[in-house]
Formats: sequence, C-alpha cells, structure tokens
Amino acid sequence: MASGTQGGTITIVRGRLLWFHHEPLGADDEASFILIEDGGLVCRNGRIAWVGDWSDLPADHRGADYADHRPHLIVPGFIDPHIHFPQGQVVASYAGSLLEWLNTYTFIEEQRYGDPRFAATMAKRFCDMLLAHGTTTCVAFGSVHKGSATALLAEAATRNMRLVTGKVMMDRNAPEALTDTAQSGYDDTKALIADWHGEARLEVAISPRFALTSTDAQMEAAGALAREHPECLIQTHLSENHSEIEAVEALFPDAADYTDVYERFGLLTGKSLMGHCIHLSAREIGRMAETGAVAVFCPTSNLFLGSGLFDLDRIKGDGVRHAIATDIGGGTSWSLLKTLDEGYKVLNLQGHRYHPMRAFWQATLGNAEAIGMADRIGTLDAGTEADFIVLDARATEAMALRMETVETLAEELFVLQTLGDDRAVTAAYVAGRPAGRD
Ligand code: GUN
Ligand code: ZN
Repeated sequence: MASGTQGGTITIVRGRLLWFHHEPLGADDEASFILIEDGGLVCRNGRIAWVGDWSDLPADHRGADYADHRPHLIVPGFIDPHIHFPQGQVVASYAGSLLEWLNTYTFIEEQRYGDPRFAATMAKRFCDMLLAHGTTTCVAFGSVHKGSATALLAEAATRNMRLVTGKVMMDRNAPEALTDTAQSGYDDTKALIADWHGEARLEVAISPRFALTSTDAQMEAAGALAREHPECLIQTHLSENHSEIEAVEALFPDAADYTDVYERFGLLTGKSLMGHCIHLSAREIGRMAETGAVAVFCPTSNLFLGSGLFDLDRIKGDGVRHAIATDIGGGTSWSLLKTLDEGYKVLNLQGHRYHPMRAFWQATLGNAEAIGMADRIGTLDAGTEADFIVLDARATEAMALRMETVETLAEELFVLQTLGDDRAVTAAYVAGRPAGRD
C-alpha cells in the first residue's frame, strides 16, 4: 500500500519481522538476530523510516492503509552476488562439465546479447525472475557486449533496484563474436563506469570473465581499471574445475597458481568477488584471507557441473570472506532458498552442517557485507533501504504438512531452506514499493 503524502511516498507493512545483526555464532546465538512477532515497517522515500512492534506504530500512521502479511515472515530481500544476466536460457543445458558447458551452450547463447533489443527484453525478464524469487539485489555478469550491461542497468533503474553489473572482458579462447580486445574491454568498462556507477541505485563491476579467456594484455587492462576505480567491485571466476585450472596454469606459467594470476594483475583485493574457489591450495586460501577477497559459494552450479564440493568451514576457519550465490545458468535455481538447500547438502557431504540461522544471515546481511553494502541493504534497520520480502513457510502442501509439527523459528527457517523456492515468496518490496505494481 503506497500512499503519497506531504512527507513523501509512504508504505506501511505488518508481519513477523526477522533480520540479523551479525553472523550467528551458534544455533542459540539469540543476540545475532531480531525477531518481532507482530511488527511494523514504515517506509518513506525508499527507506525504512520506522521499525518496531505494531503496537508502537507512531500515532500519525495509525488508521492509515497497510499491507497485512501476518503470519508470514518479512525478511530483508535476498542478495545474489554471482549470477549471469545472459544465461537465463542456458539453465538446464545437458553438459558434463564446465568447459564443455561453456563451449557447447553458453558461448553460443551469449552471442544473442549483441542485439540491444533482445538484451532489453531479456533484462526485463531477468529482473522479473529475480524479484519472483525474492532477490532484490544482485551482482551480475553481462555478456561481452557493453549494450548488455547497459540494458540491465537501464531496466534496474526503472525499477529503482540496487544492482551491480558489468560487461565481461574476454579476448581469447572464445568465438570471435564473443570477444573484445584489451583496449575495447577497457574503454567499454570505463564508459559504463562513467555513465552508470553511482547513478540511482546502480554500480558497475570490473568483470574479467576468468583468466582462461583473457590475454596478459587484457588482465593488465582489468588491473588498471581496478586501480583507477577502487570504488568498483571486481567479479570473476577462480578454481572451479580441474581442467580449467590446468589450462590457466599452462597459459600463465610464471604465476605460482591460479589465484596468483589474478593477484599479479592487481585483481585480488577486498573488492574482488571470486566465484567458486573449490580447489584452492593452502597458499591460495592464505592470499584470499590476507587480501580480503571474497570466495563465492555456488552450490547448485557446483553440483550440476560436477565441479566439486566447496569447503565453507575451511574457508571461513582460515579467515576468508565468503558469500553464497546462484550462478545462474551453471546454477540450476534462481532461488536463494534452493541455493541454501543445496549448500546444506554440499556441507553435509563433507561432515558439516549449514544451520538455518547462519544460512539466512548469509543470504541477507552476510552477502550484503561481502559486496560492501551492509550499511544500505541486508537488514531491516531504520534508515536503510527498504528492500524486503515476505516468506510463507506453508506455501506448498508439503511445506504446510511439515509446518504442522514445527515449534521454533530455526525449524521454520529450515523448512523454508529445505523445501522452499519462489512459491514461498509471496511479495517483494523494492525501495519501499511492492514489486510488480506502480
Ligand atoms: N567460468 C567462466 N565463465 C563461467 C560461467 O559463465 N559460468 C561458470 N559457472 N563458470 C565460468
Ligand atoms: Zn559464474
């Protein structure tokens, strides 16, 4: 319910509010989160102006229209820190492993995004898919075409979404129609930053696809961009698949290892989002920890492409910053809930567990911290941007059946994590307005 008043656009919602203040240190870490069983949020001009017990709703809002989401949970919108804009129609392509999947399907499909009209149509559908799955912010790879990133940024701008993207830089080991040059990749990224970075709620990421598809000259150009624009995130892939690792080491024989390839070119920093990080050596994990680079866990992708098992507890124990993401279209689900579910299974196969409190922290505040935006998104704190979603733990018959025996918040979250998907997302609010409505 959005209403215009002299104080700006106001939206008021009521429901069970849940958000985190830090990573839960254990299953019983009640200090890590806030749960308000009958809570209210007042959003004004895109921000959370007030949050608290419904009974304390400020007097000037009593009697106003509001959206009643009880008994559902209202949580911060999910954040997907590794997803590919041009791969919505690559999901579920029948491939054995990463390089076959890239060469057979992905490098063909991404050529279509050279057509700006197609890219604009797909940008709409991409944002629709994100919001339907409860994802209100993502960090997305574009295709090699500058126009693909422009299309996505323009679409996010019309919806006032907080979104980060960049055109991928790739100047070798790909079809000619999908390659740039060291110079054009630099120039196009530079122009995107000048035109879009910091506009509305948008950012541009420096996006060398991975070391296998960039020459030394292009890696240098990407490093120059990182030096010239320390405000920009860097997104790429690292240590996903054994054949990929061997190929990278052959292309960069002077580097100590795959991670060192990025570090030599100035691409391993506290702004770097490194997708996958499955097969890292102790030395590489140490450098990740020291530089503050983020290891992005993509469980549905890692299982689908048979890439391997991400060792979250080791990564975390060694002090590496980390995040969790869908990696559409190597990943098989747009849903962060399904991603948490597969994450649980990946950890369980290694003798670990993924407690639902920790998992929900990760998909919200944890991912916001990983992309450096925890001051703006990822909580329901007053003053932050009003991106939140509504989750129904009884959304399907199977969920409702299981919920009949659920007694605790952690159990309810685990039902959402294990059985939930887009059907559990009953509403998404972007900058204080219900998505899909004007
Ligand atoms: N490595 C380089 N490009 C890609 C990609 O598009 N998806 C995945 N999963 N890995 C990659
Ligand atoms: Zn990826």
